[in-house]
Amino acid sequence: MTRSPLALLGGPPLIEQPGPHFAWPPITDQTRAAVKDQLGTAISIYDRSGVVAELEDRLCTYLGAAHSVLTSSGTAGLFSAYAACGIQPGDEVIVPAYTFLATATPLFHLGATPVLVDCDGTGNLDPGAVAAAITLHTKAVMVTHLWGIPADLTALSAITAKHGIALLEDASHAHGASVNGRKIGTWSQAGTFSLNGPKPLSAGEGGFVATNDDETFYRLLLHGHYNKRCRTEIPADHPLHRYATTGMGLKFRIHPLAAAIALEQLDHLDEYLAGRETIAQYFMDELRGTPGIAVPDIPDGTRAAWYGLPLQYRPEELDGLPIERFYHTLQAEGCSEADRPGSTCPLNLHPLFQDPTPLFPTCRGGVAYAPGDFPVAERIHHHTIKFPVWHRDEDLKLAEQYVAAIRKVSTHYQDLLR
Ligand SMILES: Cc1ncc(COP(=O)(O)O)c(C=O)c1O
Repeated sequence: MTRSPLALLGGPPLIEQPGPHFAWPPITDQTRAAVKDQLGTAISIYDRSGVVAELEDRLCTYLGAAHSVLTSSGTAGLFSAYAACGIQPGDEVIVPAYTFLATATPLFHLGATPVLVDCDGTGNLDPGAVAAAITLHTKAVMVTHLWGIPADLTALSAITAKHGIALLEDASHAHGASVNGRKIGTWSQAGTFSLNGPKPLSAGEGGFVATNDDETFYRLLLHGHYNKRCRTEIPADHPLHRYATTGMGLKFRIHPLAAAIALEQLDHLDEYLAGRETIAQYFMDELRGTPGIAVPDIPDGTRAAWYGLPLQYRPEELDGLPIERFYHTLQAEGCSEADRPGSTCPLNLHPLFQDPTPLFPTCRGGVAYAPGDFPVAERIHHHTIKFPVWHRDEDLKLAEQYVAAIRKVSTHYQDLLR
């Protein structure tokens, strides 16, 4: 019997260069200089000045938003966005079942009920399922643009407008992405972005919320930026101005060194996105039609940010070969960055969404999800293998090797069944 060429079965691995093969964000001499300058300028900023003002202005211009408020994290931004949009105890908010936990967890802290809704075949929120989940208590719909691929905003905007409820966005994966020329994060009453480590725009840690609505902006400030910002940015004749000194008593300010990193990264965001687009397109063109693998469909007019490239594994095309076996074989070929996402998963798989009451005793909404509740999200999650999307011309070589490794495993899958 001839020996298998697969590395897992003793053949030579396709990629010899040891991992890690992907590092983000790109830290250059310019990044280091920006941080050093900031160290000499201010490491604590109480008002809207310096690097905070500059970054917020640049983000507004980049997105086409009236306001942006920097926060200490995307999670803090989401919490503030819900509070600023008036989410209260007893309210229901529709959130994707398939997302990162922080899209939904702030709702527990506000006494509101996250109503999880399944995705469609794209992995993003299913507009039909959203319409079916709306009740008299529904206050808002939160949508995530998973892995940087925009959700169906046209359909979701129509549904929320018809029912007179707010649309909100968790744009934490989708900096610079757009639909029909309109940037993700500006399709809704409040668009929240994480600036955490590997995000397309990174501050190391941080986040921000974009909004075109003045009232939402004032309440965003009250939620995490008490005193100086509230006193100067909420008009003196506004009824909420009297609360400026205390705000709501929480502090979610970004660290100025983090803001300096993000400001420097923002100079390059479009160049990085263009590079990612080229590499994602290469992966998709090369892998379309490969047995066992399905590539995402990106509708015309949609620009993705390619936070990652989620491929769908199709065992039925490989005689039922389990995904774990395919994945470990890819790893053995040297694809150290192939990833099976963990914490970004159908939220009903987390104990917190099965029984939140030990942690949130006042959780009134009867949140009691169970595995099996969201069959589409669970199928997609259990069949996703995610790949990094590089941005430099010289990275194309690695992308070629990853594609070749995927094809190699697909071609020789029968060796794994023996
Ligand atoms: C979709 C999504 N929302 C929210 C967050 C939370 O952002 P942060 O880690 O900055 O708090 C993340 C972080 O990974 C995320 O992926």
